[in-house]
Amino acid sequence: MSVIAEKEQQHIEEKEADKLQHLSPFNGTLPIKGYDRELLLSEMLEAKKQDSNWRDGKTWSLVYHKDEEHEAFIKKAYSNYFSENYLNPMAFSSLRRFEHEVVRMCVNLMQGDSKTVGTITSGGTESILLAIKTYRDRARAKHRFLNRPNMIVPETVHVAFDKAAHYFDVELIRAPLNKDKSVDLKAVKKLINRNTILLVGSAPNYPYGTIDDISALGKLAQKHRLPLHVDCCVGGFMLPFIKKLGHATPAFDFSVPGVTSISADIHKYGYAAKGASVILYKNMSYLKHQFVVCADWCGGVYASPTLLGTRPGGSIAAAWAAMNSIGHEGYLKLAEETMEITQALINGINAIEGLEVIGDPRMTIFAYISTDADLNVFAVADLMEKKGWHIDRQQKPNTLHAMVTINHKTHYKKYLEDLQEAVIIAKQQPDLAKQGNAAMYGMVAELPLRGLVKNNVLKMMETMYSGEANSFGKDIESIGDNKTLDIGLKLLDVFTKAKAKLNSILRFVK
Ligand SMILES: Cc1ncc(COP(=O)(O)O)c(C=O)c1O
Repeated sequence: MSVIAEKEQQHIEEKEADKLQHLSPFNGTLPIKGYDRELLLSEMLEAKKQDSNWRDGKTWSLVYHKDEEHEAFIKKAYSNYFSENYLNPMAFSSLRRFEHEVVRMCVNLMQGDSKTVGTITSGGTESILLAIKTYRDRARAKHRFLNRPNMIVPETVHVAFDKAAHYFDVELIRAPLNKDKSVDLKAVKKLINRNTILLVGSAPNYPYGTIDDISALGKLAQKHRLPLHVDCCVGGFMLPFIKKLGHATPAFDFSVPGVTSISADIHKYGYAAKGASVILYKNMSYLKHQFVVCADWCGGVYASPTLLGTRPGGSIAAAWAAMNSIGHEGYLKLAEETMEITQALINGINAIEGLEVIGDPRMTIFAYISTDADLNVFAVADLMEKKGWHIDRQQKPNTLHAMVTINHKTHYKKYLEDLQEAVIIAKQQPDLAKQGNAAMYGMVAELPLRGLVKNNVLKMMETMYSGEANSFGKDIESIGDNKTLDIGLKLLDVFTKAKAKLNSILRFVK
């Protein structure tokens, strides 16, 4: 090919590439030529505008934001270790030091001693997964003929335990609750059998913010020679401080006889960057079952203390920086102010006719229910979302959830105002409960065919992750489509009528 022809060909190819890019910018096609960095950064800022506005306190979970100065500092700490990989502690001994120091600080917060040990993980779920793997392997080592191991957990326990049960083939047995939404100890006792390898309590649980009776669980665990894990993921950086402030706080840490491990998340109320939690054990006889060593791999001897292979250095460095910069006094002040905001919110919600906070929230998490048959909380949630709030809905019973952070300080009064208004509208327009997300969430929560609900959600996930999925997320705006809603509502109607008929027959028989 002549030089001119070659140039011509190159020109055609470049034009073709330009055309392609022009036709399909950012639609999942790797650009032939990389875009300009500034353009990409502005595209991201533009895309972000569709997200929930956590900076203005509109979200009630997901983001823990202290203030902009702290955020800038944590970002610096993170980016100092942006490239470092803690897969190999020999290569990055500074990260080894940070992990050790973070673990020791957490051990002290949880009233452990010099024998208490642990590792940093990527989050609460990883800490919990590791605890279950550890107890399963420990049980296997102790009882060679162990059948199918099981763990007894409160009904409110975080779903990370379901995930762990699923991944590690440990049966999850849920114990029912007392009126205050803490686990029923008598029920736990009855459920223990010879395949039980672990008891679990939450301090506090996610759905209602109630703390299980860890002392009583500890006694039970000791009596049956079982380990006890305390899920303190959300409470780890709040409970030790609210206790110091004098709030009534049931015992939850290693000072309780029988507690053998605790998970606590630094990326929640520790105000670190995302990707930081700790899993702590009473001593090395437990932690050793968490480790995995492959001595025969042709890639070399491989020793891994946690779940991940590559471990981002940034989140470990940022956790160390956050804890050391906030310090004891800082966390105490954060706890004090967040408790004040929470109390004001709880009082405000309880003062709204038709709403009531349920359970016995001891910290900065709570949920509220409708006490009025004509008021549907999911309709209230839809109305709140129209005002820009991101609302977490719960089921069994239907409630709305709040996880309060210091960032809500300047926004909680507006939340209460908007909530009061939403309640009035939801009462005036009962049909709102039969529309949109309210109808879908209501149907999903109440349909007795749980397998059907699960299958539908699985289908939704398949759609979301399919090759044809809409990359702008429009397909996941609602938890189901109109067809699903229609079928679900018809089924629910059939069940409700059948239940009413059965009840009237039973009354007649009586
Ligand atoms: C009580 C509790 N445990 C575990 C977790 C899981 O933590 P993560 O989302 O960091 O995996 C959460 C998350 O909110 C939680 O509230």
